[in-house]
Amino acid sequence: MSTEEKGYFTEENSADVVISKIGADTDPRLAEVMSAIIRHLHAAVKEIEPTQEEWLEAIKFLTATGQKCDDWRQEYILLSDVLGVSMLVDAINNRKPTGVSESTVLGPFHVPDVPELPMGANICLDGKGEPMLIKGRILNTDGAPIAGAKIDVWQTNDDGFYDVQQKGIQPDFNLRGVFRTGADGTYTFWGAKPRFYPIPDDGPVGKMLGDLGRHPYRPAHLHYILEAEGYETLVTHIFDPDDEYIHSDAVFGVKESLLAKFDLIEDPQRIKTEGTKGPFFEVIHDFVLAPAS
Ligand code: BEZ
Ligand code: FE
Repeated sequence: MSTEEKGYFTEENSADVVISKIGADTDPRLAEVMSAIIRHLHAAVKEIEPTQEEWLEAIKFLTATGQKCDDWRQEYILLSDVLGVSMLVDAINNRKPTGVSESTVLGPFHVPDVPELPMGANICLDGKGEPMLIKGRILNTDGAPIAGAKIDVWQTNDDGFYDVQQKGIQPDFNLRGVFRTGADGTYTFWGAKPRFYPIPDDGPVGKMLGDLGRHPYRPAHLHYILEAEGYETLVTHIFDPDDEYIHSDAVFGVKESLLAKFDLIEDPQRIKTEGTKGPFFEVIHDFVLAPAS
């Protein structure tokens, strides 16, 4: 019988002793996952050499993180986001062929079953902020339009909050909409120019960011889920490249290909044609979906 099998624990063999106790009938994937976690956790503890007090602090942090969670708040996902783990899991699960639009984090503010709107509708129901016209095409990898693609879009209002964060203050479904492309694969709708905003930072994760000298801000963006029959669903954003936080997103969601152009349109003729009260922003952005595998 080996030392590990006897269960005699030393600083050197710690991970092996624990891993050796995983039962032979354990689901192989669970055994693989837990073995890796035990090995890396023990290695981290050996590198850190925490004092008993430091280890208790870590336990208290994880306890507070759990206690902050409820039906509306998921502090563990936020922790995964700010540690870059959500983006890493997203990258591993969305290795896309060249030319296909890239994915990024979903975030906690998606709402299912948002009403479908006609193309050209204005999703800004509170009338705040600078008007923004967003348009483009949903294409396949051959550059052909995808008909019947569902575009689910959501963004914060001009105060930096999603409607679900301000129930009773913002109109329901403010700055959310679902659109479906016609035969030409194009989409158009109106919104409000997004602004940077903080991720929820009134919990243990926000405190940890502060302790690490990090800010909680995400650069201005619009969220999208794009779905079409025969294609991989795409969860993504477009970002304002001129945002002051574009190179320091608190959740690491920015990719170069997701930078859009937010053009300020001041031409009186365009203003007249679009029927706006004054200048507006225009964002033209195409998305390319990968064929379903
Ligand atoms: C968001 O963009 O909505 C978001 C993403 C990750 C954490 C918090 C918010
Ligand atoms: Fe967001």
